[in-house]
Amino acid sequence: MYSGASNFVTTTDTAFAVIIGISMVFLIGITATMLWFVYRYNRKRNPIATQIHGSNTLEVIWTVIPTILVLVMFFYGWKGYAPMRNAPDDAMKIRATARMWSWLFEYENGIKTDTLYVPVNKAVALDLISVDVIHSLYIPAFRVKEDMVPGKTNKMWFVGQKEGAYELFCTEYCGLSHSYMFTEVVVMSENEFATWYAEKSDTTGRAAAAAVPGTLGKELVKQNGCVACHSLDGSKLIGPSFKGLYGSQHKVMTGNQEREITVDDEYIVRAIYEPDADVAAGYIKGQMISYRKELTEQDVNEIIEFLKTLK
Ligand code: CUA
Repeated sequence: MYSGASNFVTTTDTAFAVIIGISMVFLIGITATMLWFVYRYNRKRNPIATQIHGSNTLEVIWTVIPTILVLVMFFYGWKGYAPMRNAPDDAMKIRATARMWSWLFEYENGIKTDTLYVPVNKAVALDLISVDVIHSLYIPAFRVKEDMVPGKTNKMWFVGQKEGAYELFCTEYCGLSHSYMFTEVVVMSENEFATWYAEKSDTTGRAAAAAVPGTLGKELVKQNGCVACHSLDGSKLIGPSFKGLYGSQHKVMTGNQEREITVDDEYIVRAIYEPDADVAAGYIKGQMISYRKELTEQDVNEIIEFLKTLK
């Protein structure tokens, strides 16, 4: 019935082709007419100006034809757009969260990942959440794009029709590392997806990871996009690097007072929950939001364990 990577490819491409087609006819037609008039009515050929009076026939033609053409464009546009607004009731629900500058996808069984995995030939409905500024989720191969606005839950849905990996990125300028806000949507066969879904939801995975100190913390740091601003290799980004941070001495601004602190458990908890309480000297206030809602105290402890491994 459909072709292309998603169920919206055919209708979107048809609307695009119709609009481009009509525009091309006019571009060529108007340019040719213009050139012909320049030649035919130049001063040499037409020394005395010709007076032209109104023509009702012409007026009717150039009103009616463009009106029809615009309605044709609207028809194809609407036909493609209207179904995008209503996801089927049995669609699989995934919560997509955008933040400066990372993606997080949460499944109904609690799986969290930074890559979007979906089963083939199944309707998937995304709740689009932004926790800070306006982002926009774009999957070019699927012909879907929707803004993610803080304080508002937008919707998007699609059916992935061909197995494979497709680009997914932010297409609304959202600050310094906007261009790094890209990931993939992976369309898997039904079986493959079922296996992945069951495996990942297995809570023993979490327990096993916790056995090696820092493993879970590293996962949390990745999922929450911390590394967009805090490097792991010592380089200076929006915030201080995580490398060698734990246990080090740092100058911070507390209000207008500069003071020297040691990066310990207490300091890291405060830095994650109240980022503006102490701002590392040389960095700008207000660049980080509180992660109180995203990270439990246990999560923060895991992150501390991870930071300890970054000597
Ligand atoms: Cu998020 Cu650009």
